[in-house]
Amino acid sequence: MIVTIDGPAGSGKSSAARLLAARLGFDYLDTGAMYRAVALALTRRGVDFADLPAVEAVLAGVQIEMPPGHVFLNGEDVSGAIRSPGVSQGASKVAVIPAVRRFLAAAQRRVATGRSIVCEGRDQGTVVFPDAGCKFFLTADPRVRAERRYHELVVKGETVTLHDVLTAQEERDARDASRELGPMHPADDAVIVDTTHLTTDAVLARLEEVVRRCPTART
Ligand code: DC
Repeated sequence: MIVTIDGPAGSGKSSAARLLAARLGFDYLDTGAMYRAVALALTRRGVDFADLPAVEAVLAGVQIEMPPGHVFLNGEDVSGAIRSPGVSQGASKVAVIPAVRRFLAAAQRRVATGRSIVCEGRDQGTVVFPDAGCKFFLTADPRVRAERRYHELVVKGETVTLHDVLTAQEERDARDASRELGPMHPADDAVIVDTTHLTTDAVLARLEEVVRRCPTART
């Protein structure tokens, strides 16, 4: 069975997806990490994202592996490197490129084949797994989302202001929601959860309750 969790940055979907997967005994796929890895690969090679032949040439050599808790790009552990604010913006920019979306959607379907898995991203319930057994779209007030992200970055030792985080978030949300292919929006059959006033535990309890009521939840 596939459970999809889509939504914007800071909506709490990563923690919820990871914890829900653990609670259900499912695998977990963070598809944002895949876009981040591709952005890092292109940036390191100095590729202009508008140069499609160059983007495709790099994609042909990209291998992403994601054992629990880690992301490897062509054998190198890039788990920390892909979380910088620069890579966040880069990931949102490469996510507009159809060749990148096709490449990663195919990889995501390969990973999920034959597994019970929670897949988290922007287009999981709408494009990649339209037949998923259970779909969620998490959302939250933009200022609260920015505050969550700001605290995460401060804990990691980044020098940022809340204003910068909010501005970058608005830019990324607008790009993610307006692109032609796989724009971020809830699937028609997704359960929408507003996490603005919910703790992680409360979000998790709500998601688990819905999944356990899904007809395919025991497969
Ligand atoms: O979830 P995240 O912040 O790690 O995602 C980084 C970027 O990747 C996000 O701004 C848009 C893109 N993305 C996407 O387009 N589709 C997905 N399924 C996951 C992420």
